[in-house]
Amino acid sequence: MRLNESRVIYPGSFDPLTLGHDDIIRRALRLADTVIVGVAETATQSKRTAFSVEERVALIERVYNDEPGVEVVAFSGLLVDFARSKNARVIIRGLRAVSDFEYEFQMALMNRSLSPESEIIFMAPDSNYTFLSSSLVREVASLGGDVTPYVPGPVLEALEARYGRTGSG
Ligand code: PNS
Repeated sequence: MRLNESRVIYPGSFDPLTLGHDDIIRRALRLADTVIVGVAETATQSKRTAFSVEERVALIERVYNDEPGVEVVAFSGLLVDFARSKNARVIIRGLRAVSDFEYEFQMALMNRSLSPESEIIFMAPDSNYTFLSSSLVREVASLGGDVTPYVPGPVLEALEARYGRTGSG
């Protein structure tokens, strides 16, 4: 199935990108020619990220080096303004579990209220990734656990550089 849109936005903090995000990006590539990965400078004013926005963008670019359909762009300010600036009407968000729903539904309706031309599409990741989150990956890596199964190679390298080698030996 393809959308009648050439480009979609997939926004997030990506601190760092996980295989759950990767799964959604690859699914979104089946719907549109270009997936613009919008890397929020800071998701909320109170949230400090482990990786700077430049680091997060560079990491995601490395992961999709061979994938011309993926464009990685940092943004600050409102997501809907970013989407407008990219001429994209469709915003993709991953939904892992019911627990994501309330926040995501609230954000979706606020975004559509701010920008009635926008549509928000929720996509379900592979069931292997429903427990995965960037914050858990950061916590496990920082405590010396092995995060190899959860992140793409370049992200694993960055986590090891940041926190030391993870538990795989
Ligand atoms: O990966 P995250 O942290 O769940 O992503 C949240 C993100 C970045 C998509 C959200 O915080 C966002 O859209 N931030 C941009 C500012 C904005 O538009 N806020 C109003 C949202 S209704």
